[in-house]
Amino acid sequence: MSKVKTLGQFIIEKQNDFPFAKGELSRLLRDIGIAAKIVHREVNKAGLADILGEAGETNIQGESVKKLDVFANEQFIAALSVGGECCAIASEENEDIILVDNEQSKNAKYVVAMDPLDGSSNIDVNVSVGTIFSIYRRISLSGPGTLEDFMQRGTEQVAAGYIIYGSSTMLVYTTGKGVNGFTLDPSIGEFCLSHPNMQTPKSGKTYSMNEGNYVHFPDGVKKYIKYCQEEDKPTKRPYSSRYIGSAVADIHRNLITGGIYIYPVTASSPSGKLRLLYECNPLAFIIEQAGGKATDGYRRIMELETKTLHQRTPFYAGSADMVDTACEFMSRFSK
Ligand code: AHG
Ligand code: MN
Ligand code: MN
Repeated sequence: MSKVKTLGQFIIEKQNDFPFAKGELSRLLRDIGIAAKIVHREVNKAGLADILGEAGETNIQGESVKKLDVFANEQFIAALSVGGECCAIASEENEDIILVDNEQSKNAKYVVAMDPLDGSSNIDVNVSVGTIFSIYRRISLSGPGTLEDFMQRGTEQVAAGYIIYGSSTMLVYTTGKGVNGFTLDPSIGEFCLSHPNMQTPKSGKTYSMNEGNYVHFPDGVKKYIKYCQEEDKPTKRPYSSRYIGSAVADIHRNLITGGIYIYPVTASSPSGKLRLLYECNPLAFIIEQAGGKATDGYRRIMELETKTLHQRTPFYAGSADMVDTACEFMSRFSK
Protein backbone atom coordinates (compact mmCIF):
# COMPACT_ATOMS: atom_id res chain seq x y z
CA MET A 1 0.00 0.00 0.00
CA SER A 2 1.39 3.39 -0.94
CA LYS A 3 1.59 5.94 1.87
CA VAL A 4 1.65 8.82 -0.60
CA LYS A 5 -1.06 11.44 -0.18
CA THR A 6 -1.63 13.56 -3.25
CA LEU A 7 -2.68 17.21 -3.24
CA GLY A 8 -6.06 16.19 -4.65
CA GLN A 9 -6.67 13.64 -1.87
CA PHE A 10 -5.51 16.10 0.80
CA ILE A 11 -7.74 18.92 -0.45
CA ILE A 12 -10.82 16.70 -0.41
CA GLU A 13 -9.96 15.42 3.07
CA LYS A 14 -9.52 19.01 4.33
CA GLN A 15 -12.85 20.10 2.87
CA ASN A 16 -14.37 18.61 6.04
CA ASP A 17 -12.70 21.43 8.03
CA PHE A 18 -15.30 23.70 6.46
CA PRO A 19 -18.70 22.20 7.31
CA PHE A 20 -20.68 24.12 4.71
CA ALA A 21 -18.10 23.82 1.96
CA LYS A 22 -19.46 22.76 -1.40
CA GLY A 23 -16.07 21.98 -2.85
CA GLU A 24 -15.62 25.22 -4.79
CA LEU A 25 -12.42 26.24 -3.03
CA SER A 26 -11.12 22.68 -3.40
CA ARG A 27 -11.72 22.85 -7.12
CA LEU A 28 -10.05 26.24 -7.34
CA LEU A 29 -6.94 24.88 -5.62
CA ARG A 30 -7.02 21.90 -7.95
CA ASP A 31 -7.10 24.26 -10.96
CA ILE A 32 -4.06 26.11 -9.61
CA GLY A 33 -2.28 22.77 -9.16
CA ILE A 34 -2.93 21.90 -12.82
CA ALA A 35 -1.51 25.20 -14.11
CA ALA A 36 1.49 24.76 -11.78
CA LYS A 37 2.31 21.41 -13.40
CA ILE A 38 2.21 22.94 -16.87
CA VAL A 39 4.47 25.82 -15.80
CA HIS A 40 6.80 23.30 -14.11
CA ARG A 41 7.13 21.48 -17.42
CA GLU A 42 7.96 24.70 -19.23
CA VAL A 43 10.41 25.93 -16.55
CA ASN A 44 12.26 22.66 -16.82
CA LYS A 45 12.87 23.06 -20.50
CA ALA A 46 13.67 26.79 -20.31
CA GLY A 47 17.36 26.00 -20.79
CA LEU A 48 16.51 24.43 -24.14
CA ALA A 49 15.40 27.80 -25.50
CA ASP A 50 18.47 28.02 -27.74
CA ILE A 51 17.56 24.73 -29.35
CA LEU A 52 13.83 25.21 -29.35
CA GLY A 53 13.84 28.95 -30.09
CA GLU A 54 14.20 32.21 -28.13
CA ALA A 55 11.25 34.13 -26.73
CA GLY A 56 9.66 36.14 -29.52
CA GLU A 57 10.92 33.72 -32.22
CA THR A 58 9.47 30.64 -33.82
CA ASN A 59 10.92 27.35 -32.61
CA ILE A 60 11.88 24.38 -34.77
CA GLN A 61 8.37 22.99 -34.51
CA GLY A 62 7.08 26.27 -35.95
CA GLU A 63 5.47 27.33 -32.62
CA SER A 64 6.04 30.85 -31.36
CA VAL A 65 8.14 30.91 -28.19
CA LYS A 66 6.88 32.98 -25.29
CA LYS A 67 8.70 34.50 -22.38
CA LEU A 68 8.14 32.32 -19.34
CA ASP A 69 6.32 35.00 -17.34
CA VAL A 70 3.88 35.55 -20.21
CA PHE A 71 3.47 31.79 -20.60
CA ALA A 72 2.83 31.30 -16.86
CA ASN A 73 0.32 34.15 -16.85
CA GLU A 74 -1.61 32.60 -19.73
CA GLN A 75 -1.61 29.14 -18.17
CA PHE A 76 -2.96 30.31 -14.82
CA ILE A 77 -5.59 32.52 -16.46
CA ALA A 78 -6.68 29.63 -18.69
CA ALA A 79 -6.89 27.14 -15.82
CA LEU A 80 -8.82 29.56 -13.60
CA SER A 81 -11.19 30.56 -16.40
CA VAL A 82 -12.00 27.03 -17.48
CA GLY A 83 -12.27 25.79 -13.88
CA GLY A 84 -15.40 27.85 -13.26
CA GLU A 85 -14.76 28.79 -9.60
CA CYS A 86 -13.24 32.22 -10.14
CA CYS A 87 -15.03 35.34 -11.44
CA ALA A 88 -12.01 37.68 -11.81
CA ILE A 89 -8.23 37.54 -11.77
CA ALA A 90 -5.67 40.19 -10.85
CA SER A 91 -2.19 39.52 -12.16
CA GLU A 92 1.14 41.29 -11.99
CA GLU A 93 1.28 40.93 -15.77
CA ASN A 94 -2.00 42.76 -16.44
CA GLU A 95 -2.71 46.38 -15.70
CA ASP A 96 -6.42 45.80 -15.11
CA ILE A 97 -8.35 42.90 -13.63
CA ILE A 98 -9.29 40.07 -15.96
CA LEU A 99 -12.99 39.39 -15.91
CA VAL A 100 -14.03 35.78 -16.13
CA ASP A 101 -17.36 35.84 -17.86
CA ASN A 102 -18.35 32.44 -19.12
CA GLU A 103 -21.07 29.88 -18.54
CA GLN A 104 -18.97 27.84 -16.07
CA SER A 105 -18.14 30.75 -13.79
CA LYS A 106 -21.42 32.57 -13.61
CA ASN A 107 -21.95 31.49 -9.99
CA ALA A 108 -18.28 31.65 -9.03
CA LYS A 109 -17.65 32.92 -5.51
CA TYR A 110 -13.95 33.68 -5.60
CA VAL A 111 -11.40 36.08 -7.08
CA VAL A 112 -7.71 35.23 -7.44
CA ALA A 113 -4.73 37.61 -7.29
CA MET A 114 -1.43 36.24 -8.55
CA ASP A 115 2.17 36.82 -9.44
CA PRO A 116 2.41 34.16 -12.16
CA LEU A 117 6.22 34.21 -12.34
CA ASP A 118 8.12 35.60 -9.39
CA GLY A 119 11.86 36.08 -9.75
CA SER A 120 11.79 36.78 -13.49
CA SER A 121 15.42 37.94 -13.47
CA ASN A 122 16.38 34.37 -12.54
CA ILE A 123 14.56 32.62 -15.39
CA ASP A 124 17.42 32.64 -17.86
CA VAL A 125 20.08 31.55 -15.39
CA ASN A 126 18.57 28.34 -14.00
CA VAL A 127 17.81 29.75 -10.55
CA SER A 128 14.58 29.03 -8.64
CA VAL A 129 11.49 31.00 -9.61
CA GLY A 130 7.94 30.83 -8.28
CA THR A 131 4.25 31.59 -8.55
CA ILE A 132 2.26 33.30 -5.79
CA PHE A 133 -1.54 33.24 -5.43
CA SER A 134 -4.12 34.72 -3.11
CA ILE A 135 -7.84 33.88 -2.99
CA TYR A 136 -10.65 36.13 -1.73
CA ARG A 137 -14.38 35.62 -1.52
CA ARG A 138 -16.04 38.13 -3.88
CA ILE A 139 -17.89 41.15 -2.49
CA SER A 140 -19.94 41.81 -5.63
CA LEU A 141 -23.06 39.74 -5.89
CA SER A 142 -23.06 38.16 -9.36
CA GLY A 143 -21.70 38.26 -12.89
CA PRO A 144 -18.00 38.81 -13.51
CA GLY A 145 -15.98 40.13 -10.56
CA THR A 146 -15.17 43.80 -9.95
CA LEU A 147 -12.15 45.81 -8.82
CA GLU A 148 -13.82 46.19 -5.42
CA ASP A 149 -13.59 42.41 -4.95
CA PHE A 150 -9.80 42.82 -4.73
CA MET A 151 -9.77 45.88 -2.47
CA GLN A 152 -9.85 43.76 0.68
CA ARG A 153 -7.32 43.48 3.47
CA GLY A 154 -5.02 40.48 3.60
CA THR A 155 -6.87 39.30 6.71
CA GLU A 156 -9.82 38.50 4.40
CA GLN A 157 -7.86 35.97 2.35
CA VAL A 158 -9.57 32.60 2.17
CA ALA A 159 -6.47 30.80 0.94
CA ALA A 160 -3.01 31.64 -0.32
CA GLY A 161 0.00 29.78 -1.55
CA TYR A 162 3.07 29.65 -3.68
CA ILE A 163 4.71 27.26 -6.06
CA ILE A 164 8.49 27.11 -6.11
CA TYR A 165 10.09 25.77 -9.28
CA GLY A 166 13.39 24.83 -7.68
CA SER A 167 15.59 21.75 -7.54
CA SER A 168 12.20 20.15 -7.09
CA THR A 169 8.83 21.81 -7.64
CA MET A 170 6.75 22.39 -4.52
CA LEU A 171 3.31 23.79 -3.85
CA VAL A 172 2.80 25.30 -0.39
CA TYR A 173 -0.59 26.62 0.68
CA THR A 174 -2.81 27.61 3.58
CA THR A 175 -6.53 28.00 4.06
CA GLY A 176 -5.99 29.50 7.51
CA LYS A 177 -5.55 26.18 9.26
CA GLY A 178 -1.82 25.72 9.09
CA VAL A 179 0.52 25.38 6.15
CA ASN A 180 1.15 22.27 4.09
CA GLY A 181 3.77 21.62 1.43
CA PHE A 182 3.56 19.22 -1.51
CA THR A 183 6.43 18.13 -3.73
CA LEU A 184 5.79 17.31 -7.37
CA ASP A 185 6.72 13.75 -8.23
CA PRO A 186 7.27 14.13 -11.98
CA SER A 187 7.16 10.37 -12.52
CA ILE A 188 3.47 10.25 -11.55
CA GLY A 189 2.65 13.92 -12.27
CA GLU A 190 1.23 14.50 -8.79
CA PHE A 191 1.98 16.90 -5.95
CA CYS A 192 2.54 14.66 -2.91
CA LEU A 193 2.31 15.76 0.71
CA SER A 194 5.94 16.08 1.82
CA HIS A 195 5.86 18.90 4.40
CA PRO A 196 2.77 18.51 6.60
CA ASN A 197 1.98 21.29 9.09
CA MET A 198 4.97 23.51 8.31
CA GLN A 199 6.21 25.60 11.22
CA THR A 200 8.88 28.23 10.95
CA PRO A 201 11.49 28.50 13.73
CA LYS A 202 11.01 31.46 16.15
CA SER A 203 14.45 32.65 15.18
CA GLY A 204 17.07 31.74 12.61
CA LYS A 205 20.54 32.56 11.35
CA THR A 206 19.76 33.98 7.91
CA TYR A 207 18.98 37.50 6.73
CA SER A 208 17.92 38.07 3.13
CA MET A 209 17.95 41.44 1.44
CA ASN A 210 19.54 43.15 -1.54
CA GLU A 211 22.46 44.76 0.28
CA GLY A 212 23.52 46.41 -2.98
CA ASN A 213 20.87 49.01 -2.13
CA TYR A 214 22.48 49.63 1.30
CA VAL A 215 23.13 53.36 0.86
CA HIS A 216 19.44 53.93 0.14
CA PHE A 217 18.13 51.85 3.05
CA PRO A 218 16.41 53.53 6.02
CA ASP A 219 18.68 53.96 9.07
CA GLY A 220 16.70 51.32 10.94
CA VAL A 221 17.58 48.70 8.31
CA LYS A 222 21.23 49.84 8.13
CA LYS A 223 21.54 49.45 11.91
CA TYR A 224 19.74 46.11 11.81
CA ILE A 225 22.20 44.82 9.18
CA LYS A 226 25.11 45.79 11.45
CA TYR A 227 23.34 43.98 14.32
CA CYS A 228 23.03 40.84 12.11
CA GLN A 229 26.78 41.01 11.44
CA GLU A 230 27.88 41.44 15.08
CA GLU A 231 29.45 38.58 17.04
CA ASP A 232 27.09 37.33 19.78
CA LYS A 233 27.08 33.64 20.78
CA PRO A 234 23.68 33.48 22.60
CA THR A 235 21.80 34.80 19.56
CA LYS A 236 24.02 32.82 17.15
CA ARG A 237 25.27 35.99 15.44
CA PRO A 238 26.74 36.82 13.04
CA TYR A 239 23.91 35.58 10.83
CA SER A 240 24.47 34.38 7.28
CA SER A 241 23.42 36.55 4.37
CA ARG A 242 21.45 34.67 1.70
CA TYR A 243 19.61 36.42 -1.13
CA ILE A 244 18.33 34.66 -4.22
CA GLY A 245 16.29 37.52 -5.66
CA SER A 246 13.14 35.42 -6.06
CA ALA A 247 10.99 36.30 -3.06
CA VAL A 248 9.30 32.88 -3.18
CA ALA A 249 12.64 31.08 -2.96
CA ASP A 250 14.04 33.36 -0.24
CA ILE A 251 10.86 33.11 1.82
CA HIS A 252 10.65 29.34 1.31
CA ARG A 253 14.21 28.78 2.54
CA ASN A 254 13.72 31.06 5.53
CA LEU A 255 10.37 29.44 6.35
CA ILE A 256 12.08 26.07 6.66
CA THR A 257 15.37 27.05 8.29
CA GLY A 258 14.38 30.27 10.09
CA GLY A 259 15.37 33.72 8.88
CA ILE A 260 14.21 37.16 7.89
CA TYR A 261 13.48 38.63 4.44
CA ILE A 262 13.50 42.40 4.06
CA TYR A 263 12.65 44.52 1.04
CA PRO A 264 12.57 48.05 2.48
CA VAL A 265 11.96 51.38 0.78
CA THR A 266 14.87 52.46 -1.43
CA ALA A 267 15.60 55.49 -3.62
CA SER A 268 14.34 53.73 -6.76
CA SER A 269 11.41 52.11 -4.89
CA PRO A 270 10.19 54.77 -2.44
CA SER A 271 7.18 52.62 -1.46
CA GLY A 272 9.12 49.36 -1.48
CA LYS A 273 9.27 47.08 -4.50
CA LEU A 274 6.98 44.19 -3.69
CA ARG A 275 3.26 44.27 -4.38
CA LEU A 276 0.78 44.07 -1.54
CA LEU A 277 -2.02 42.20 -3.26
CA TYR A 278 -0.28 39.31 -4.97
CA GLU A 279 3.14 39.10 -3.30
CA CYS A 280 3.12 40.37 0.29
CA ASN A 281 -0.39 39.43 1.48
CA PRO A 282 -0.25 35.79 0.35
CA LEU A 283 3.31 35.34 1.63
CA ALA A 284 2.30 37.02 4.91
CA PHE A 285 -0.68 34.67 5.32
CA ILE A 286 1.55 31.63 4.89
CA ILE A 287 4.28 32.98 7.16
CA GLU A 288 1.80 33.82 9.93
CA GLN A 289 0.11 30.45 9.60
CA ALA A 290 3.54 28.86 10.04
CA GLY A 291 4.12 30.87 13.23
CA GLY A 292 6.12 33.76 11.75
CA LYS A 293 5.41 37.46 11.25
CA ALA A 294 5.10 39.85 8.29
CA THR A 295 5.10 43.64 8.56
CA ASP A 296 5.91 46.77 6.56
CA GLY A 297 8.49 47.64 9.23
CA TYR A 298 5.83 49.01 11.58
CA ARG A 299 2.43 47.48 10.84
CA ARG A 300 1.10 44.03 10.13
CA ILE A 301 0.99 43.48 6.36
CA MET A 302 -2.39 41.74 6.36
CA GLU A 303 -4.07 44.72 8.06
CA LEU A 304 -2.91 47.28 5.50
CA GLU A 305 -5.60 48.85 3.41
CA THR A 306 -5.57 47.76 -0.23
CA LYS A 307 -6.18 50.85 -2.33
CA THR A 308 -4.90 49.93 -5.78
CA LEU A 309 -4.27 46.73 -7.70
CA HIS A 310 -0.51 47.12 -8.05
CA GLN A 311 0.15 48.86 -4.73
CA ARG A 312 3.64 48.38 -3.33
CA THR A 313 4.77 48.03 0.26
CA PRO A 314 8.00 47.51 2.17
CA PHE A 315 8.15 43.92 3.45
CA TYR A 316 9.78 42.55 6.62
CA ALA A 317 8.88 38.88 7.00
CA GLY A 318 10.00 35.63 8.54
CA SER A 319 10.84 34.24 11.98
CA ALA A 320 8.81 36.07 14.65
CA ASP A 321 11.68 37.11 16.92
CA MET A 322 13.80 38.37 14.04
CA VAL A 323 10.94 40.43 12.57
CA ASP A 324 10.25 41.88 16.04
CA THR A 325 13.90 42.92 16.37
CA ALA A 326 14.01 44.46 12.87
CA CYS A 327 10.82 46.42 13.65
CA GLU A 328 12.32 47.66 16.94
CA PHE A 329 15.26 49.03 14.94
CA MET A 330 12.81 50.72 12.58
CA SER A 331 10.89 52.34 15.43
CA ARG A 332 14.09 53.54 17.10
CA PHE A 333 16.05 54.77 14.10
CA SER A 334 13.52 55.35 11.28
CA LYS A 335 10.60 57.02 12.98
P1 AHG B 1 9.02 39.65 -10.10
O1 AHG B 1 9.99 38.77 -10.79
O2 AHG B 1 7.66 39.03 -9.97
O3 AHG B 1 8.96 41.05 -10.66
O4 AHG B 1 9.46 39.81 -8.57
C1 AHG B 1 10.79 40.10 -8.24
C2 AHG B 1 10.84 40.56 -6.80
C3 AHG B 1 11.09 39.49 -5.78
O5 AHG B 1 10.81 38.20 -6.17
C4 AHG B 1 12.55 39.60 -5.45
O6 AHG B 1 12.80 39.26 -4.13
C5 AHG B 1 12.83 41.03 -5.73
O7 AHG B 1 11.91 41.46 -6.68
C6 AHG B 1 14.22 41.22 -6.25
O8 AHG B 1 14.44 42.55 -6.43
P2 AHG B 1 15.93 43.15 -6.53
O9 AHG B 1 16.50 42.63 -7.81
O10 AHG B 1 15.70 44.63 -6.52
O11 AHG B 1 16.67 42.67 -5.31
MN1 MN C 1 7.30 38.85 -7.92
MN1 MN D 1 6.32 38.34 -11.52
